Amino acid sequence: MEKNPKIAIYPGSFDPLTNGHVDIIERALKIFDKVIVSVMHNPKKSSLFSVQERVDMIRDSIGKKANLEVDSFDGLLVDYTRMKNAVAIIRGMRAISDFENEFQMALMNRRLNRDVQTIFLMTGLRWIFTSSSIIKEVATFGGDITGMVPQPIKLKMLEKFPARKEN
Ligand code: PNS
Repeated sequence: MEKNPKIAIYPGSFDPLTNGHVDIIERALKIFDKVIVSVMHNPKKSSLFSVQERVDMIRDSIGKKANLEVDSFDGLLVDYTRMKNAVAIIRGMRAISDFENEFQMALMNRRLNRDVQTIFLMTGLRWIFTSSSIIKEVATFGGDITGMVPQPIKLKMLEKFPARKEN
């Protein structure tokens, strides 16, 4: 690792991790010396999995990589970026619908800490329609989520919501 490694935080609810998130992680790893995927609390959302479950599920899904850390934090994202000496916050952008909320968060984070830059990575076209919420909705009604989430996530989801017989 370099003397002054460029560290990026990829924060999110990850409830659960999707293949869209994995795509963003892989892209971020190509740009930064180290990426920290951090499960954080979004006060606008209630979660299906506990923070520890989400951390474990991410670790099971992406395996061990020297330049990747999986962590969690309960507090302000800008405080966490300072604590971790991060230079960037990574966010995935899917469509125009994501823009308003992301723009607001990025500007607020910039106001709170000018030393960290928010960097948006475009989600791959294949994942443009996937989100943790829609995947949870499909799984709740026993729908097949194969190919939308890593296999360990699919198995955890099946423990909560058994699949319909035809899946
Ligand atoms: O995956 P999500 O739910 O879109 O992620 C949103 C998240 C968790 C990154 C955001 O809610 C957050 O940063 N939470 C930590 C508390 C905080 O710093 N809030 C102010 C953001 S401007």
